[in-house]
Amino acid sequence: MDWIKVSSYEQMSEIAADIFTEQLAKKPDSVLGLATGGSPLGFYKEMVRRCQAEEISFARATTFNLDEYVGKGPGDATSYHEFMCRNLFRQIDLPETRHHLPNGLAEDLAAECVRYEKLIEASGGIDLQLLGIGVNGHIGFNEPGSRFDSRTQVIELTEATRKSNARYFEKEEGIPAKAITMGIETIMSARKIVLLAFGANKTDAVERLKSGAVTEEFPASVLHKHPHVTVIYGK
Ligand code: GLP
Repeated sequence: MDWIKVSSYEQMSEIAADIFTEQLAKKPDSVLGLATGGSPLGFYKEMVRRCQAEEISFARATTFNLDEYVGKGPGDATSYHEFMCRNLFRQIDLPETRHHLPNGLAEDLAAECVRYEKLIEASGGIDLQLLGIGVNGHIGFNEPGSRFDSRTQVIELTEATRKSNARYFEKEEGIPAKAITMGIETIMSARKIVLLAFGANKTDAVERLKSGAVTEEFPASVLHKHPHVTVIYGK
């Protein structure tokens, strides 16, 4: 695991953008795994800037997002789909047919998990996956206790996660109880992984990740078993 300590959120975003820029330069048809939340916002802003300045292009890339709330989808301002359109997709040259998120509105959620998993597989697999980390160590929405051999799945969100994501919703009742997320094994299948963790509220999670103990009770700890992980962190 490579650890890069930064002194600002902007520096973290810049370094992450450099890693993705290098990936796209090496392989323009890369399959990129994307994340939502506050951690990657600065990174997306920088990628948009580079794309609009024609320094990079997503024209041949494919993207897969980690997760989506059950009951949320296109057109809903609080869906991850909308988050991605607003902060990245609408501002870059990635064709609409090649960005993917799990469909939180699917009637048959189990079938949707299988469909998403197959779609990732058919793309040739994720070359570079971006991750944030939950205060309880979740990656994607794989909450503590998620099996390391899990594939895309429906997950019940913990109170801690619902609380920390409450800021994105007008009313507490509006926070979904479930989500579809790539499983831990799906994430681990990515060839390379970059994890972003910035701020005082992430210090404990980063320390626990650093400590090296690998346990399903702290999902991010599985990353110690992956050969190409870079953690960019600071406070
Ligand atoms: C959310 C997302 C995760 C994200 C995490 C941290 O619940 N499902 O993918 O990494 O929380 O979010 P933030 O970056 O806003 O702290």
